[in-house]
Amino acid sequence: MSGKRHTQAELVALARDAAIRAHAPYSGFSVGCAVETEDGTVATGSNMENACYRLGVCAEISALTAAQQAFGLDRIRRIAVAGGHIGEDGTLTGAQTVTPCGGCRQSIAEARDLSGVDIEVISASGDGTDASVQTISELLPASFGPDNLDDAER
Ligand code: THU
Repeated sequence: MSGKRHTQAELVALARDAAIRAHAPYSGFSVGCAVETEDGTVATGSNMENACYRLGVCAEISALTAAQQAFGLDRIRRIAVAGGHIGEDGTLTGAQTVTPCGGCRQSIAEARDLSGVDIEVISASGDGTDASVQTISELLPASFGPDNLDDAER
C-alpha cells in the first residue's frame, strides 16, 4: 500500500484489522499495529503469544520487523496501535486506548534515531472511536540511544 498518506482513521482501521490476525489466546488481548512511511506505504503486525507467556511478541515489534523488511525503519513517520478483544461480529472491540509498552517505545525510538525525524504515535481504542496522538519523544523522553554508546570500547 503506497502512494498517498492515510488519514488517521484509515491508519487506525489498518491497525484494528491487523489485530484480527493476532495470536493472543493467553491474554485474550489482541493488539494490532500499522506503520506508515512518508509516502503512505504501510506495514502491519499483531501480537503473537505462546505457551511460555513471557516470550510473547508485541504487535509493534511485529510491525517494525515487517517494516524493516518492506522498506526500512528509517522511513517510518507514523504508527497506529489499537488493542482489545475480538467481538461477536469479528471486529476489534474495547473502549480503552492502548499506548505502546515501554519496550516497544524503545524500538520506536530506534527508528526515530535512524532518520532523525520524530515519529507520530496514534494510540487508539479497540473499537477505534478514541485515540490520543503523541510523538515518540513525548512517550519516551530522555531515551537511551546510539549517542549513549559513545564510550563503548570499539
Ligand atoms: N501488547 C502489545 O502487543 N503491545 C503493547 O504495546 C502492549 C501489550 C500485547 C502483549 C500481550 O500479548 C498482550 O498485549 C497483553 O499484554
